[in-house]
Amino acid sequence: MFKLRDVWSDAIDSQDGCARVDVYQDLKKMTLDVIGLGGFGYRLQALNRDDNSNELEQAYAEIFAKVPPVSLYRIFMDCFPFLDFVPDERTRKIRESRATIRRIGMEIVQEKKAAVRAELAGGTVDSKVLPSKDLLTLLIKANIATDPKEHQSLTDEEVLSQIPSFLVAGHETTGMATTWCLFALTQNPQIQHQLRQELLSVQTDSPTMDELASLHYLDCVVRETLRLYSPVALTLRTAVEDDVIPVSKPFVNRYGKVQHEIRIAKNNRVIIDILTLHLSKDIWGEDALEFKPERWDSLPDSVKDVPGVWGHIMAFSTGPRACLGYRFALAELKTAIFTLVRAFDFELAADPKDVTRLGIIDQRPALKSQPKTGAQMPMLIRPFVPL
Ligand code: HEM
Repeated sequence: MFKLRDVWSDAIDSQDGCARVDVYQDLKKMTLDVIGLGGFGYRLQALNRDDNSNELEQAYAEIFAKVPPVSLYRIFMDCFPFLDFVPDERTRKIRESRATIRRIGMEIVQEKKAAVRAELAGGTVDSKVLPSKDLLTLLIKANIATDPKEHQSLTDEEVLSQIPSFLVAGHETTGMATTWCLFALTQNPQIQHQLRQELLSVQTDSPTMDELASLHYLDCVVRETLRLYSPVALTLRTAVEDDVIPVSKPFVNRYGKVQHEIRIAKNNRVIIDILTLHLSKDIWGEDALEFKPERWDSLPDSVKDVPGVWGHIMAFSTGPRACLGYRFALAELKTAIFTLVRAFDFELAADPKDVTRLGIIDQRPALKSQPKTGAQMPMLIRPFVPL
């Protein structure tokens, strides 16, 4: 966080007291660095580069690049799988990117393994005692530990396969959430001011988790951001058996018949539309589309039935496949907002009506007027100077 604050301060100094920055791209670099360190104890240094020369970041950008229109060649490939041996440009790039991610991932696993072994040389291993606390070290240590039986240990390949999940799940999402939070603050200057007052009441730049947790208005702002701008807008599930989904009130189906439940058959796919749920006036009230942190002080009863793993919202999903990193994400989001809003004043450098969302599943921000630029959120940033 401090690194990003320094990068933006330098930009302000070099642009005569007001910097124009793409906060989304910078926040994504920051969250990549954070998951690199917190997840793998690995310095990805994405923020230290002026260009996008971080190999890993580039590899991910390639895989998540806007999918081009379906080419004739791709249709042929689907019909004649042997053509797969002569991949088209996009397939080739995706394969190269996967290979890069795999190579870097395997380097990280091997380095960590060597470090954990060196640390533990000579003794038996208690998987609970761990000097290094990143997720990967924990996994490797638990794996090398003498307590699990051999068939319970993961192979290097299995450990490696965890890295992309954590990198993907843990960096874009938090980057998006922080960006939308700053966007909401630019659209509500009074809320930005009130939040900054609370943040400035803390005497230190590096609050503990308990100090952060005690900031009530920050908590409300974060909850409201994750409700109104849920980074994951929808998710899918496939029924493993015939089932019935209960509904809160009867509805009329497309054949004009009143239904009291939704019947689904084995293998049916179900879309869980998180954002629609978060914006429902029936649940949240007539002001559901407004950014109102204070709503969290008196929620309507209907909200209490929303079954999310955290905070009566579905931003982190629910059930056994809910977000594994939600506590990490909340700590990161709060720390980022704390550090950045104390230091800077944010103003949107675009017409708010021009701001849109790129994805269907996710919520990458973009400008309607610049469809070719891809995801972005331009802002003007000035140092905050107390009166
Ligand atoms: C604001 C930030 C985040 C949001 C909104 C978010 C949201 C979600 C959602 C909705 C899911 C469930 C997807 C589904 O049901 O199909 C999920 C899964 C997951 N998330 Fe997050 N996430 C965030 C940050 C993180 C972070 C920081 C990490 C890692 C440290 C992480 C790790 C994971 C993992 C590993 C899964 C897969 C869990 C499984 O399949 O069992 N997430 N996340």
